[in-house]
Amino acid sequence: MKAALINGSPKAKGSNSEYLLAELKKLITNDYETEVFHINQCLHSQEALESIYTCDVLVVAFPLYVDGVPSHMLHFLEKMESFFQSKEKKAITVYAVANCGFYEGEQTGLSLQMIEAWCKKAGLVWGQGVGAGAGEMLGSLQSVPIGHGPKKNLGRALQWTNQTGFTQTMTEYQDKERVTKK
Ligand SMILES: Cc1cc2nc3c(=O)[nH]c(=O)nc-3n(C[C@H](O)[C@H](O)[C@H](O)COP(=O)(O)O)c2cc1C
Repeated sequence: MKAALINGSPKAKGSNSEYLLAELKKLITNDYETEVFHINQCLHSQEALESIYTCDVLVVAFPLYVDGVPSHMLHFLEKMESFFQSKEKKAITVYAVANCGFYEGEQTGLSLQMIEAWCKKAGLVWGQGVGAGAGEMLGSLQSVPIGHGPKKNLGRALQWTNQTGFTQTMTEYQDKERVTKK
């Protein structure tokens, strides 16, 4: 099984989305091979799209912009949709990890619904979304282990992958961090 972890932040390095994917990657142990992509690669490289198509799972991590998905993410989603439509249909499951500047992770709710709606349109399977608040705080909390202190709920949401694998990861997770239901 293979999972594509797509960093949807426009920042080349040091983004909060990058941090969240790195933490998630550490927890993925259930027979999954992972490959990390940056959104710029996905927008400009056909090779990246082909590689993503070989995956069983996509995880998109992105920042919240004006309560929605950033425009470059929208461009990416449109590109991915027409790419997938040009290929043989495949049941790829999509998960999303949105982070925002506001403290409450639930601010990301609409953006996660946008990804869910995109899955339906693009013929992909929606897995689950996680919304992380206080994204800009993550950088200054690098020394705090995930699952502790202000990263307690975030750690619980991501650690679920370690125990159950992607399929049940976020569908079974019951906590206020959970933003959308399957
Ligand atoms: C153009 C722009 C719009 C933003 N809009 C919101 C918003 O509506 N709500 C919010 O909580 N944060 C908003 N933010 C803050 C980002 O979501 C936040 O800084 C996030 O942690 C950046 O993630 P990244 O480092 O992965 O890019 C916005 C930031 C930018 C640059």
